Amino acid sequence: MTFKRTTVTTALPYANGPVHIGHLAGVYVPADIYVRYLRLKGDDVIFIGGSDEHGVPITIKARNEGVTPQDIVDRYHYLIKKSFEDFGIWFDIYSRTTSQIHRETASDFFRTLYEKGGFIEKTSEQYYDEEVKQFLADRYITGTCPHCKNEHAYGDQCEACGTSLSPTDLINPKSALSGSTPVRRETKHWYLPLDNYEAFLRQWILEGHKEWKSNVYGQCKSWLDMGLQPRAVSRDLDWGIPVPVEGAEGKVLYVWFDAPIGYISNTKELLPDSWEIWWKDKDTRIIHFIGKDNIVFHCIVFPAMLKAHGGYQLPDNVPANEFLNLEGDKISTSRNWAVWLHEYLEDFPGKQDVLRYVLTANAPETKDNDFTWKDFQARNNNELVAILGNFVHRAMVLTHKYFDGKVPPCGELTDYDNRTVDEFIDIKKDLEKNLDQFRFRDALKDAMSLARIGNKYLADTEPWKSAKTDMPRVATILNLSMQIVANLGIAFEPFLPFSAAKIRDFVGLDSCIWADLGKITILTKGQMLKTPELLFEKIEDETVHAQVQKLLDTKKANELKEMKAAPQKPDVSFEDFVKLDVRVGTVSECVKVPQTDKLLQLTINDGINKRTIVSGIAQHFTPESLIGKQVCFIANLEPRKLKGIESQGMILSAETPDGKLVLIHPGEKVPDGSAVK
Ligand code: 2FM
Ligand code: ZN
Repeated sequence: MTFKRTTVTTALPYANGPVHIGHLAGVYVPADIYVRYLRLKGDDVIFIGGSDEHGVPITIKARNEGVTPQDIVDRYHYLIKKSFEDFGIWFDIYSRTTSQIHRETASDFFRTLYEKGGFIEKTSEQYYDEEVKQFLADRYITGTCPHCKNEHAYGDQCEACGTSLSPTDLINPKSALSGSTPVRRETKHWYLPLDNYEAFLRQWILEGHKEWKSNVYGQCKSWLDMGLQPRAVSRDLDWGIPVPVEGAEGKVLYVWFDAPIGYISNTKELLPDSWEIWWKDKDTRIIHFIGKDNIVFHCIVFPAMLKAHGGYQLPDNVPANEFLNLEGDKISTSRNWAVWLHEYLEDFPGKQDVLRYVLTANAPETKDNDFTWKDFQARNNNELVAILGNFVHRAMVLTHKYFDGKVPPCGELTDYDNRTVDEFIDIKKDLEKNLDQFRFRDALKDAMSLARIGNKYLADTEPWKSAKTDMPRVATILNLSMQIVANLGIAFEPFLPFSAAKIRDFVGLDSCIWADLGKITILTKGQMLKTPELLFEKIEDETVHAQVQKLLDTKKANELKEMKAAPQKPDVSFEDFVKLDVRVGTVSECVKVPQTDKLLQLTINDGINKRTIVSGIAQHFTPESLIGKQVCFIANLEPRKLKGIESQGMILSAETPDGKLVLIHPGEKVPDGSAVK
């Protein structure tokens, strides 16, 4: 199929948190690679991004923080936008679904469908919180999962067993807003009758798009085989785009109805006069880059919406990726189990391309994949430094050494030289094929093979040996080597834009086009090269250990958060409480009790005398660390003997849920013997 232009969209991330490596690997780096490739080829392309600023999770976050949803999306929209810019993901527009133009576009879209009779209106019973006088979104209802009995399941899903739920499945439902038991109340909503589009979708996808990635095709097939049901496109919520018809007070468009329309609104904002050709012209190809959880919305729901509306092109391809895990665990925003892009850049300034490289080399294209810091280090050191960086640097250094940094003339090529060039051109063909078919991992391997050819060429031709006898041959070898360097400045532009720009700068190439890739006449004789610099530097063990430690700390913090405090003991009377005499004293001596693991013998200055207390805290504190410290102790505990030593009281400490002890001290120094009340 021929086409004149390509509209590339990327899933609009929710503006309720920063973006992390999973986002980058799954959606934005592949999309950016593809767009850069098309731009290099001179294709007409627009690259559309933006933030998804509606939906219940944003309202939950706002409520938890005591701010407005607008505050939340303002905070994250700009952070996300900046992260993308910093990583070289250069959209033609990165806008937001709270924009006025989007509100109008989504409203108009809904109204068109409404006027065409494209919705069914249905009244159903939904949970309502009588205390806060609000219908409850599924996420606002918690209760016990009927499958695994997890008591904290949400109305749409149990995160413990992964089952999709509807709020009425929950046992003992509670409103997350007030904690009260919600009641069922009737409410009216608009539904898109997806079942009416089933035959069309079957034909269009299952017959017409067999070339789609197997994970995408497979998911579509299983949805279609299960049979499609009408889907509500409105919600009872006060955050979103109001449903633009009479009788819809208090109702907004469902976030998944308005978000994909955001692609269109953002195109309108970018190109107010010509946006339509990018969506409606039959010579336009639309490609949606998304993650696997978005497949149904982009392949089934949005196409049905576009079809119902009429006049729009349907996506040509939806190259969705699977998920990236982190060190063996699912990436999770709420558990802070992620490598956040803005934090990565603080820790690895200037190393955007290293992350882009690792995420592409390890992209979850066909199955979920794992990011590990060990692999990050290995790929940087063994591939970027040892292959690409090494070749560019060597070729530059040799040219400086033998030809004062000027591209030498090219003499007659040997058979070996010609074979090298042919091999280079063959790999270019492979590279193009892989890029055209959204196989970016393989494409990156091809690009690295081009750098490998360079290394091999230098190693095999050994110009430093010929330098003694045959300078014209050295000139040819280094001319060809520098042509390969220039080629790498083109080949890596889609993958490693910052490094490719550096390479081009090294060799004085102001601009580049894909058509030049494979040519050995890119640089002209006499072209002055810059002073050689290293493109990549080795990443040391300490650096990755620090990152792993950061994750271990997160894991520990999460475990502590999940641990529950011990249940409360039965009540005691005030009279009983005041019987206890708790005082402050200073530890003047402290030794381990011989032949025990757990006991310390402390001498406490209690303001009157010195007293001995034996305490089972030896596994938590060294004797030296306690000497001189003020502690709180029970002074009137009946003395008792431990290992033959009379203990005259008890030291107070707090025990964390995981069993760690922390001594209780007064907040500031007080006279020994002071009472604790
Ligand atoms: O899954 C998500 O993060 C959604 N915010 C993606 C929306 S994609 C498009 F429809 F806008
Ligand atoms: Zn469950």
